Amino acid sequence: MAQSYNIAVIPGDGTGPEVIAEGLKVARAAASVEKISLDFTTFDFGGERFMKTGEVLPEGAIEELKKFDAIYLGAIGHPDVKPGILEKGILLKIRFALDQYINLRPVRLYPGVECPIKGKGPKEIDYCCIRENSGGMYTGMGGLSRPGTADEVAIQNMVYTYEQVARCLRYAFDYARTHGKKARGVGPENTLALVGKSNVLTYMYELWNRVFAEIGAEYPDVKREYYHVDATCLYMIGSPEMFDVIVTENMFGDIITDLGAITQGGLGVAAGGNINPEGVSMFEPIGGTAPMWTGKNAINPLAAILAGAMMLETLGERSAASRIEKGVMQVIEKDMKSMEAGKMGISTTEVGDRVSKYVS
Ligand code: IPM
Ligand code: MN
Repeated sequence: MAQSYNIAVIPGDGTGPEVIAEGLKVARAAASVEKISLDFTTFDFGGERFMKTGEVLPEGAIEELKKFDAIYLGAIGHPDVKPGILEKGILLKIRFALDQYINLRPVRLYPGVECPIKGKGPKEIDYCCIRENSGGMYTGMGGLSRPGTADEVAIQNMVYTYEQVARCLRYAFDYARTHGKKARGVGPENTLALVGKSNVLTYMYELWNRVFAEIGAEYPDVKREYYHVDATCLYMIGSPEMFDVIVTENMFGDIITDLGAITQGGLGVAAGGNINPEGVSMFEPIGGTAPMWTGKNAINPLAAILAGAMMLETLGERSAASRIEKGVMQVIEKDMKSMEAGKMGISTTEVGDRVSKYVS
């Protein structure tokens, strides 16, 4: 019997539906060659629905999503909705409720993609960020006291439990062991770099560094490094080749992966996975809703297509995933002038059509 998967699809807002349509097209093409069956169920969660109904996620939505093998998400956000409502109510809500505690964001420059860093190419920009995805300042603990007065106090706490740190680091060590540069045959060792701010956030990094050393002792085959997050930004531009696998807390991970994205050709190509290794994971292009480009058939769908490949890979469909990645490399080489919306030389739908052809 062919392997079959039930996927929940949340196209979302702005250009989300356009890029997801291409991702689905390509995933279907790869599935058909690989003889796997993908069954997609679409949900209309997002800004439009919220404007109509006043509801971010309907009652029972989380329970419903838990029944799927994976979730494929476009983008969430609406120019007429106050920032935070949809992000917290949909995207972060799903990440937290489904305990997707890892955010996996490869930083890989494909051949033929223009790199904004002089003298750096695909060989130098080839690493992966593992962002802790369940804690830190994203926990939402804190509050405002005496609002509107001169004595107003705003507190937003950075919170981590031992277990949150340990499970993230364990995943990162495993990932470095299986996907590090040595494992992939492109370097002499597998290296995991912890990125933090131990010179200021002393309590926080007392914990992270201790657990890093503790768990690291079980992985003698993975070399350990530590960098401050500010210095990491310098290195990501100045000498990206020094990185292999990076692991970091939620907010630092959010920030450095946008920096990583621009070095790999921008948000048009950067994909990410919100992963619960024991549960339901969600895959998304890391770019936003791009309202300027909505409905123009000009947005780059490669990030969404690559998120689809990550989804298949995580489901255990390696061959389908690598087929898609190769298709993406071909379309970049043969058909696309740029990774930027409006400058690609071909349309959103054409990109999807060509990649589908290359994977078939
Ligand atoms: C991301 C986004 C989200 C985040 C926002 C939209 C809440 O920036 O996925 O990186 O901060 O995690
Ligand atoms: Mn972000």
